[in-house]
Amino acid sequence: MRLYHILILPFLILLASCSSSSGEDKGSFTLPTQVDMKSYNEGQKLYTNYCKQCHQDKGQGAPPTFPPLAKSDYLMADRARAACIIKNGSEGPITVNGQEYRLKMVGHNDLTAQQIADILTFVTNSWGNEGGTMKREDVVKALEGCGK
Ligand code: HEC
Repeated sequence: MRLYHILILPFLILLASCSSSSGEDKGSFTLPTQVDMKSYNEGQKLYTNYCKQCHQDKGQGAPPTFPPLAKSDYLMADRARAACIIKNGSEGPITVNGQEYRLKMVGHNDLTAQQIADILTFVTNSWGNEGGTMKREDVVKALEGCGK
């Protein structure tokens, strides 16, 4: 009986160390870019409240009225411009993925820089988009350049 214990102990230690290291590996495989998940989750809630009614639950929009955010060349080309659009709105015409849009989007002046950062972190890392984390400081800087 004692011998059995001595033999099984190293095996258990080995097993425990294997399972913990494979858990870490899985984390880095599922995320292609480093995304701040707290910001992403906040952004998802804000998106539901402020954006989903037009840009839809999978970011697909409703062409030719509301442009998509999912795989949007216009969004992904310039995240600073996207911060300005969220804050101040947009009066087209603009071309998104080859389709022209000209309906006015009203700005969300009540959103803070942190909330805009969270929304951008969510939309630029969902539905096939891969944009990385947008930080509060990035948004503050972007908003200083709006309309220039
Ligand atoms: C009432 C409808 C409505 C709401 C709500 C709305 N948008 Fe828009 N959005 C539009 C329209 C219409 C356009 C096209 C504007 C233009 O033609 O200049 C647009 C354009 C955009 C664009 C640039 C084009 C693109 O598809 O890449 C982004 C980015 C965007 N919206 C993000 C958001 C985000 C984020 C929110 C939530 C904070 C939001 N919008 C809320 C209607 C809306």
